[in-house]
Amino acid sequence: MKPKDLKAVYSWKERRPLIADRIFHVPNHYEHHDAFAFPGWDDASLFGNSNPICVEYCAGNGAWILERAKSSPHLNWVAVEMRYDRVRKIWSKIQNETIPNLIVVCGEAWNFTHHYLKEDSIEEAYINFPDPWPKEKHEKHRLMKPRFLDELARVLKEGKKVTFVSDDATYVEQTTQVFHSHPHFHSYSLMKECPGYGTSWFEDLWREKGKKIHYLQFVAQ
Ligand SMILES: C[S@@+](CC[C@H](N)C(=O)[O-])C[C@H]1O[C@@H](n2cnc3c(N)ncnc32)[C@H](O)[C@@H]1O
Repeated sequence: MKPKDLKAVYSWKERRPLIADRIFHVPNHYEHHDAFAFPGWDDASLFGNSNPICVEYCAGNGAWILERAKSSPHLNWVAVEMRYDRVRKIWSKIQNETIPNLIVVCGEAWNFTHHYLKEDSIEEAYINFPDPWPKEKHEKHRLMKPRFLDELARVLKEGKKVTFVSDDATYVEQTTQVFHSHPHFHSYSLMKECPGYGTSWFEDLWREKGKKIHYLQFVAQ
């Protein structure tokens, strides 16, 4: 299977939540999420079991999560990515390598989390190299804001971790402050290396360019 073998499932006008072929399509600018009968992650159309669920937001082409899913078959993995061209790349690898414990959510991080993840349902969350949107005029696009942390705090099981990785020192600083100001996260740690963590397409790119990588971890309470 090639990425282009995945055809568009609907037009903009017909957009709706839809689970098809190991992809959960979660449209943005859509008002009827509450009317969608989400079958539950243990339904055969998704994982078909009740193993713990880990989520990677901003999964890109999926390099990091594909390796994690293969090396941790006892966990279920959800790759959240809003760009369809990148969703297609993850999808083709899932098909070609037969990875039963990985699902792609084609959708926006906050929107998906808010509408489709239950309280205390997630084992771990990862955000690897989210776009930093450094210009102030683009600030509204940054993911790491209180309203997203509210959602992470709601869905993560108590005592479980969220990991944020970035090459952008300013975004790391901003994100640290947002976590520190949030009442439901604690145990901050900042690392320069994280052996065994795995790598992604953007991590390889930034390391090649000599950039430093920062790993932030917070625990939900
Ligand atoms: C810089 S890339 C990093 C991709 C991958 N994590 C890596 O390290 O190679 C950021 C990705 O996050 C996606 N993204 C940005 N904001 C998002 C959001 N709010 N919800 C879902 N995906 C998002 C972008 O489409 C892009 O693919």
